[in-house]
Amino acid sequence: MKLFNVFAAALAVTSAVAQIEAPDGVDQGELNEALAEAMNSMQPGTPQEQQGAMEDLKVVHIDGPLECEEEDTIEASKYVSVEYVGTIAEGSETGEIGKIFDSSFIRGQTLDFQHSLGQVPRGFDFATRGLCQGVNVSITIPPLLAFGDEGNGGIIPGGATIHFNVFVKKVSVEDFRPEYNFFEHMDSDKDGLVSRKEMTDFMLLNYRAGVPDELWNAADKNGDGYSDWNEFIFDKGEKKKRVINQDDEDKKAKAALLAAEESEASKDDAEAEEAEASKDEAEADVEEITTAQE
Ligand SMILES: *[C@@H]1O[C@H](CO)[C@@H](O)[C@H](O)[C@H]1NC(C)=O
Repeated sequence: MKLFNVFAAALAVTSAVAQIEAPDGVDQGELNEALAEAMNSMQPGTPQEQQGAMEDLKVVHIDGPLECEEEDTIEASKYVSVEYVGTIAEGSETGEIGKIFDSSFIRGQTLDFQHSLGQVPRGFDFATRGLCQGVNVSITIPPLLAFGDEGNGGIIPGGATIHFNVFVKKVSVEDFRPEYNFFEHMDSDKDGLVSRKEMTDFMLLNYRAGVPDELWNAADKNGDGYSDWNEFIFDKGEKKKRVINQDDEDKKAKAALLAAEESEASKDDAEAEEAEASKDEAEADVEEITTAQE
């Protein structure tokens, strides 16, 4: 997994959770509950412990409006787009202070999420509540409201206090996020099919949830062990991306190279044989001449 994708798994990927629609045969309510539970289990600490950590949550205004119209204010369930730079905070008990662990600028894309649904670390939801579109703030989040004792993907160590410089780029009641392509993300070997193992790996990594039989059976209607593009039940964006299996491409390229080398080699062989043959002929001629002279 790439360095910065780890944080995306915690921030951006989970923001797609609200978009998972229950397929036929799966109860939407149950699916939502299971996913909400999975999301909550990603947050460290009990509600009481988190309450206790609230005093260590700091939001400092840097620039931009402190007051605005209601429509530009971040509220629960609104859609929010932010630019951010995440670092290990000053005074963090673990980690290398000041080290950038993720940034929308490095990533080349904003973090877009639905507010107050646990799609981002709790502290990030709490700290951004009530902010205006266009504001810059500095946010410090204690571990209990961020990634707890577990940390995140080895990049944010357990027990780390984290810091964000955040710019609130957009606040909206409309979901402006592009549809998340679950297919592309689950199909890790890029063979154009999602196996149960690929789906399970994805769900475990991003939601700490498995793939129950009902879900898999709905995703693999013809029971061939794979969920193909048409069978696939989760959001998959507009259209299928061109699927290239790099291994196959590499193999093909190597095979072509080998074939070319071989034909070159056999051409050389043929030339060598010909040369040998004409040498023999020449020698034979010489012999004839000598014989004739005798
Ligand atoms: C506010 O955030 C934007 C986007 O990150 C940045 O370009 C700008 O410099 C920030 N303003 C201040 C005063 O830090």
